[in-house]
Amino acid sequence: MASRKPLVAGNWKLNGSQTLLNEMANVLEDINSQEVDVALFVPALLAAEAVKLGLQTGVQTVSEYEAGAYTGETQAALAKQLGVTYTLVGHSERRHVFGESDEDVANKFAMAQQQGLIPVLCVGETEQQREQGETESVISAQIEAVIQKLGVAALSQSVIAYEPVWAIGTGKTASPQQAQDIHQFIRDKIAQQDQGLSQGLRILYGGSVNEKNSEELFAQQDIDGGLIGGASLKTGAFVSICESAK
Ligand code: G3P
Repeated sequence: MASRKPLVAGNWKLNGSQTLLNEMANVLEDINSQEVDVALFVPALLAAEAVKLGLQTGVQTVSEYEAGAYTGETQAALAKQLGVTYTLVGHSERRHVFGESDEDVANKFAMAQQQGLIPVLCVGETEQQREQGETESVISAQIEAVIQKLGVAALSQSVIAYEPVWAIGTGKTASPQQAQDIHQFIRDKIAQQDQGLSQGLRILYGGSVNEKNSEELFAQQDIDGGLIGGASLKTGAFVSICESAK
């Protein structure tokens, strides 16, 4: 891993509970925050509680709208007021289950930054896209949508998470080399527009990361930590994953 400080983030998706949050806060207390940043992307209803427990907290999506008659949306400004630090934007489940387009994701990215949240831009290809040799073009388009809207400089206040869709929740992890290749592709792509920014940008890997494979993944040159789904719901496993990023 280069000189970038690693970040390990748990994405609870539509899971977890207040009890688990308390347990997680207890065990995460012992992790040295000088060496690794740890964040939890909890369901929005748990965000205020997570902040109170002293956790670096993220929400899993935000509305692209600032305020108004948008029933059911999560407001970026309110998340910020509550002490939330991050939001995911463009997680593959938002793209594929809820039909968010690259443009929708760019709008959410913009709103997050406008309200002072750090967006974690999730990108990744489906199995079919990989088989058809489209991995790089899909990821490029997902990143370009943000650059077109806000300029490359906007990426300096963000994190990118590479999550191949075929590796999410399937137990099929990308090999460390496969993941490294795409992380390097992303960094090189951004370096073409801003070399310094690309060197400082944290790029996380997500997709069936667990306590057995995390160390090798995080040891890759361009992998700066992980976005962890299922394993972030188990205290022991998540702590081991966080420790392995140091
Ligand atoms: O955002 C994290 C995620 O999509 C990966 O999930 O369960 O494969 O670690 P999982």
